[in-house]
Amino acid sequence: MNDLERLGGPEAVRGHIEAFVSRVFDDFIIGFQFANSDKQRVIEHETTFALRHLSGGRHGYSGRPLHQVHKPRRINRGQFRRRLAILRTVLGERGVPPDIIDRWVEHEQGMMNLVVDGTDCVPQADPSRKADPES
Ligand code: HEM
Repeated sequence: MNDLERLGGPEAVRGHIEAFVSRVFDDFIIGFQFANSDKQRVIEHETTFALRHLSGGRHGYSGRPLHQVHKPRRINRGQFRRRLAILRTVLGERGVPPDIIDRWVEHEQGMMNLVVDGTDCVPQADPSRKADPES
């Protein structure tokens, strides 16, 4: 039985993605990124994206290439980690088995460089700057 079958099939996955995408759109840290996005369209493509890896490639992905969608948006690594945290939380709340959650999150983690702009959510330390004794 693959992960998709264990989860109860494509409709069950769609339910998980609907809950996840809704949480992301309403999130106080990364929700602003979706201000001009069509939620139903994102749900549609996120569902096929998840189905592809959960089925071991038996389902196809319907959306645009990830780098094309995300690179123009200046998404930093903190925002990326926030998405992963929301994914883990929502799947856990919905009773997805922990081993499937781990594989799902790990799969997304591996795609970080297609999505982020190379910056973090805090400024990089500048090695040429001396530590400020006042602070
Ligand atoms: C591995 C992590 C991620 C995956 C797998 C992923 C997946 C997707 C997919 C499948 C779509 C729909 C593509 C399409 O419309 O053709 C999408 C859209 C979008 N994603 Fe991501 N995403 C990831 C991370 C992020 C992060 C961290 C952010 C921002 C915090 C983000 C912001 C967006 C936005 C704003 C859209 C809508 C684009 C539009 O309206 O045209 N994504 N994502």
